[in-house]
Amino acid sequence: MGPGDLSSVLAPLASVSDPRLLVGRETFDDAGVYLVADDLALVQTVDFFAPIVDDPYDFGQVAAANALSDVYAMGGQPITAMNIVAFPTADLPLAVLTDILRGGQDKAHEAGALIVGGHTVIDTELKYGLAVTGKAHPNFLLTNAGAKPGDRLVLTKPIGNGILATALKRGIIAAAAGAEMIEVMKKLNGPASRAALASGAKCATDITGFGLLGHASHIARASNVTLHIHARSVPVLDGAREALKQGATTDGLKRNASYVEEFVEWRGSARDYHDLLCDPQTSGGLLVAVPSDKLANYLSKMEGAVEIGEVLERENIAIVVD
Ligand code: CO
Ligand code: CO
Repeated sequence: MGPGDLSSVLAPLASVSDPRLLVGRETFDDAGVYLVADDLALVQTVDFFAPIVDDPYDFGQVAAANALSDVYAMGGQPITAMNIVAFPTADLPLAVLTDILRGGQDKAHEAGALIVGGHTVIDTELKYGLAVTGKAHPNFLLTNAGAKPGDRLVLTKPIGNGILATALKRGIIAAAAGAEMIEVMKKLNGPASRAALASGAKCATDITGFGLLGHASHIARASNVTLHIHARSVPVLDGAREALKQGATTDGLKRNASYVEEFVEWRGSARDYHDLLCDPQTSGGLLVAVPSDKLANYLSKMEGAVEIGEVLERENIAIVVD
């Protein structure tokens, strides 16, 4: 569901407040965080979706990496996970589900987490994901509210996988363009998260369904800052621009675009990057607000991480893109 509709759905519900609830839903963070002891917080999140790649084992890995990512985006370490499955038993052999679950299990093990159970329903459309529980130290969290003026914005994976996956599905771009995309989506955000904590960062989010600008807008609002994003610096998957030229847009992209419209000021020719910056991502990278004196160290430790902008004192708009 798009961020605009989701906000409307949640608005009438009473907000939950409890001294032990360190991060609730108000700040659009990646996971809920609940204090269980002075030095231990639980990090809880869930994510599932329909396949965006053909191979079941790949899909299982991508879906798991995506779900685990929300724990990393809070500065947590995943410890346990539960499978969530909707499966069309009349249309697909059961072996397909075994391969999906094997992919999810292998990725969870790579993350150091155990899959301890799950729930399966028969449905017309296949969907898979995980509910993940992680642990974190309450003094070392990465929240949307933690960005400070002067921090530098670092993105750890290229964007464009929504557009590219759509083009591949429609067969309007060569299948070879999908190989890099799948590898990037399978990559865990654990190293990026640990490097962020080591650099003294207090703010990160992962780039998923709301696109780079949608997630960035949540940081700007929760931290009461303005984010300055240099469109030309944002890393983009090979083939995504070509896919866009061939008309590979999605309804999710349109929903994100209309949601962020009022939060973004476009300068110069930055609008050329509009669709890429609004593209919904699956298992995207972390967007981290890194203290400026730790930037060089962070970039040297994280292969593929790129500085894409900086955090400014709050101006009259949430995001400036130039
Ligand atoms: Co997230
Ligand atoms: Co999520």
